[in-house]
Amino acid sequence: ALVPAELVEAIQQLKSQRDAVILAHYYVAPEVQAVADYVGDSFYLAKLAKSLPQQTIVLCGVEFMGESAKLLNPTKTVLLPEPGADCPMAHMVKRETVDAARAEYGDDLAVVCYVNSTVEIKSWSDVCVTSSNAVKIVSELPQQHILFIPDQNLGRFVAEQVPQKHVILNNGYCPRHHIITVEQIVDATEAHPDALVLAHPECKADVLAEADYIGSTAGIIKYAEESDASEFIIVTVRGVLYELERRCQGTGKKFYFPAVQPACVNMDLITLEKLVHCLETGEGEVQIGVSDEAADQAKLTLDRMLEYAA
Ligand code: 13P
Ligand code: SF4
Repeated sequence: ALVPAELVEAIQQLKSQRDAVILAHYYVAPEVQAVADYVGDSFYLAKLAKSLPQQTIVLCGVEFMGESAKLLNPTKTVLLPEPGADCPMAHMVKRETVDAARAEYGDDLAVVCYVNSTVEIKSWSDVCVTSSNAVKIVSELPQQHILFIPDQNLGRFVAEQVPQKHVILNNGYCPRHHIITVEQIVDATEAHPDALVLAHPECKADVLAEADYIGSTAGIIKYAEESDASEFIIVTVRGVLYELERRCQGTGKKFYFPAVQPACVNMDLITLEKLVHCLETGEGEVQIGVSDEAADQAKLTLDRMLEYAA
């Protein structure tokens, strides 16, 4: 077993003492996913946090995931095993970019914010999206002009899928996905000619052009599970392999990654030791460090996401 039975038992006890539930993103270490009560993509984790009875939510993921859970559930305690695990993309938009677009397009502009963003950036926005609902939400918004922040790659992908909208892009990017090159994908497809290419929309346009399927981490896993194909080139952070193998156990399905396996150093900061420490001490509580007014506005963008995506 990935995690010794005594440790699983100890975690179980700590959880009930604290009335806590453990949520984990598909990118975190296998042994952390193994002890979580729920594992999912960022949309699932945000949505799920609202319906849990426990008083404490331990979120094994990066900071914006903990902040989203807290904004959506202000009366709960949200703990991050590693509060220093940040997502670099979450900061990659300037206030001026938002102000300039609002000045130019007025009421016919919606500022659409990828959930991978700080609370402050959310507070400048109208609605949040994740990669599993961005196309649906943008297509349903009443405004004609869309400023998509911070991710240029997801923004471009959405613009292509929703050509009836005018989508303005910002220059943010995920450092882990943006460095994946089309040459790496071509090399992988030459080595595995029968494999389907499943990619995350945070990849660059030329990489996405090689993909047979484009979707969130949960989308990629579901696609591979349901597909009749037996080999897949997975173009996202390698953490998804644990769930891919778990779901496809016994099918003989094979998963390959680009030669330079994408890793997220931020997600890798969340270890089993830190999770146990957090359950023992209650340290790592998420604080929303903005004014009440900004926090309310940021919460509204997440509530709207849940409404639109329903
Ligand atoms: P998902 O919403 O697809 O899980 O993506 C989260 C993320 O951080 C991708 O890099
Ligand atoms: Fe952020 Fe990229 Fe890591 Fe996702 S993979 S958490 S977008 S740095």
